[in-house]
Amino acid sequence: MTANTDVTEKKKKRPWRNKLAEIEKKKRGPKKKKYRAENENIQKNGENLEEEEELDAIGEAKKKLDSGRFRFLNEKLYTCTGSEAYDFFKQDPTSFQCYHKGFADQVKKWPNHPLREIIQWLQKKSEKLSVFDLGCGEAKIAEAVGDKHNVRSFDLVAVNDRVESCDMSKLPAEDGSADIVIFCLSLMGTNLYDFVREARRVLKIGGILKIAEVSSRFVSVKMFCEAISKMGFEMSNRRDLTDYFIMFEFRKIAKIEKSKPFGLKLKPCLYKKR
Ligand SMILES: C[S@@+](CC[C@H](N)C(=O)[O-])C[C@H]1O[C@@H](n2cnc3c(N)ncnc32)[C@H](O)[C@@H]1O
Repeated sequence: MTANTDVTEKKKKRPWRNKLAEIEKKKRGPKKKKYRAENENIQKNGENLEEEEELDAIGEAKKKLDSGRFRFLNEKLYTCTGSEAYDFFKQDPTSFQCYHKGFADQVKKWPNHPLREIIQWLQKKSEKLSVFDLGCGEAKIAEAVGDKHNVRSFDLVAVNDRVESCDMSKLPAEDGSADIVIFCLSLMGTNLYDFVREARRVLKIGGILKIAEVSSRFVSVKMFCEAISKMGFEMSNRRDLTDYFIMFEFRKIAKIEKSKPFGLKLKPCLYKKR
């Protein structure tokens, strides 16, 4: 009898042992694989972790760059004329997207936005009106009340189809074609007189000029209102919205007292470095 036949004989004599051995083997097999797979996972997770940390760091650096760029663009808008800003963004429209993203991030931190109040005010008007939103940003007013009123939205760059691109000191619109003109946080350029004069040109007699601005920008609210009045308006309303914003309403009248009166001044609204 050879050794091989010996083993086969033994196997035949102990079928239950063989069965157990087979079960054990089956158990061990997948276990080893599992350990290997787990090891590989740990290694992979280690690599993933490093990759994730790297991505986080890149994300953080990008955020800082974007917020620095936003502050630069914001300051630029407050320290140049409308036509300079228009030329600047025409050459680099990506800057405008960066500005708008930065602005939208700021708005998220505000307890209220005067735009909301303006929209509610427009929603309450029963007749269909011609509304011009100057420095409209994403044209939220048109989005909200575009079905109810004829809204035209103007900004330096058109971020969507609702926006007409222009410098608001030179509007592509007829004299006396608007019932309401809105400047919501958009009196940014250094040539404020040109913006107000242009708003008056496109307004009908009796039409409303609505201005919402950051309270801290005013050198003197009284002087500001007097200056606008002298340019051919009468003030019909003034309201403080929380501590942050002031809202004014002026009505266009026929008579202009002065085309460039003293006192139409606003300080730039600069954001703190974070
Ligand atoms: C602070 S954002 C406010 C946007 C929007 N009105 C709101 O309340 O959400 C000011 C906007 O005015 C626009 N703007 C500033 N100067 C402008 C000009 N000369 N002509 C057209 N838009 C101007 C800016 O491009 C910007 O979109």
